[in-house]
Amino acid sequence: MTEPTLTRPPVWQRIWRSIVREPFTGDRRSRLRLVMNNLILHLHPSQVPARTLRFTYTWGLGGLSGLLVVILAVTGMLLETAYTPSPDKAYTSILALSTRIWFGQFIRNLHHWSGNLMIIVVALHMLRVFFTGAFRAPREFNWLVGIALLLLTVIANFTGYLLPWDQLAYWAITVGSSIIVYIPLIGNGLANVLLGGPDIGPTTLLNFYAFHISIIPMAILVLMSLHFWRVRKDGGLSLPRSVDEPPVNKDENVLTVADLVRPEAVWATVALAGIVLWSAFVNAPLEALANPDASPNPAKAAWYFMGIQELLLHFHPLIGAIIVPTLGLLGMVALPYMDSDMDSVGIYFRSRRGRWLALFSAASGAMATALYVVLDEFFIDWAGWFYGLPAIISNGVLPLILLLLGVIGYYEFVRRVFRATKCEGVLSVFVLVLAGFIVLTLVGVFFRGAGMKLMFPWQIVTIH
Ligand code: HEM
Repeated sequence: MTEPTLTRPPVWQRIWRSIVREPFTGDRRSRLRLVMNNLILHLHPSQVPARTLRFTYTWGLGGLSGLLVVILAVTGMLLETAYTPSPDKAYTSILALSTRIWFGQFIRNLHHWSGNLMIIVVALHMLRVFFTGAFRAPREFNWLVGIALLLLTVIANFTGYLLPWDQLAYWAITVGSSIIVYIPLIGNGLANVLLGGPDIGPTTLLNFYAFHISIIPMAILVLMSLHFWRVRKDGGLSLPRSVDEPPVNKDENVLTVADLVRPEAVWATVALAGIVLWSAFVNAPLEALANPDASPNPAKAAWYFMGIQELLLHFHPLIGAIIVPTLGLLGMVALPYMDSDMDSVGIYFRSRRGRWLALFSAASGAMATALYVVLDEFFIDWAGWFYGLPAIISNGVLPLILLLLGVIGYYEFVRRVFRATKCEGVLSVFVLVLAGFIVLTLVGVFFRGAGMKLMFPWQIVTIH
């Protein structure tokens, strides 16, 4: 008797099934679709509520942040092949990108601009989540994960800033890392560990390189996966609605691949084309080789730390560089637990009144901050007025108390005078402080000249 022969599928079909675990259909197009759908359905559910597709609700900012991470990872890996993290080779390896390596300058531009853009895009994504109240239950934890992602984005940019080892890098990092020293008790030790000694040198470059290419990207990857997973576990995106609509719990569902992934792909292509075009024409800055003996005047931190550097000009360093930013950060962490009004989730700026309160608070915060900057330059003299008191009190604690009273007073003002609800009051304070911080950053970047003296727009025009 002859043995029955087992008919096994050909090897290439077995390989196929081992990868996608779906039967092989034989048609190339459907094969491709199968793989894509498998991949996409790990990120998205198979169906999503129709109203979450409104572009003007999310502005695609979360997805754009993700796209930037991918661009940064790819270009970063390419740059790594040409870069040596030692003071005598780092600068020349960056120079070689523009002279000896095909598309080297372009890849560097893509990496540089995507990194800077990512800070802006992630911050805007956070603002959209804040303004639509999407940080409230059940998304409080994802808001916290988001804050960690924002911090990591800034740290990734900061550590990357030193790598070209030019004057810009050396002095911006010198100014930026001098802030660490003001952390009470551990400041000096921490700065020593991070910089690998009291000053910026070869060990600093190596430490920053290690953080920049492995520790921080890994942390971003892990937290991003957690963030995406939580979006799904929290029931998908919060549902957008307009001011007059009643709360919605459910909506008609549409198919993800047809209705969400296509617009996402279009948006990603447009964004990618914009970044590629910009990077093709605008080169990332590179100054002369770092010279520890020749400090530029003014020596400024990177733009995203200019708000804090500006605070240092107005407060005692412990208060300006550590206490005020820490209070801001704690406020953001506490936000979902202080403001849990579920009625306005999904509505931009909470209500009609919330809309103009946000506008009013933005104008008030911007004007009050600009006024204080000018007054502090010419009239205010905390140390002189309270001569005899330690600087931390006269130039730190006293102005801090004034600042806190101003913020609390503003909250009470909008609550009583404009009859704002609690959540509209929190919105107003957030916008007030945010506008102040943006003005401080702009003043630091554009209106500080030699010796960090305040320059008015007409003085800048005269100098140029
Ligand atoms: C690397 C940085 C980040 C990436 C890649 C990212 C990505 C995303 C994506 C793709 C979504 C869904 C679509 C959208 O809302 O646009 C989302 C939603 C969300 N993100 Fe982020 N995000 C990042 C940072 C942040 C930050 C800084 C915060 C807040 C501090 C945050 C809080 C949230 C919350 C609460 C949601 C749910 C929003 C809702 O249900 O309406 N994320 N994020």
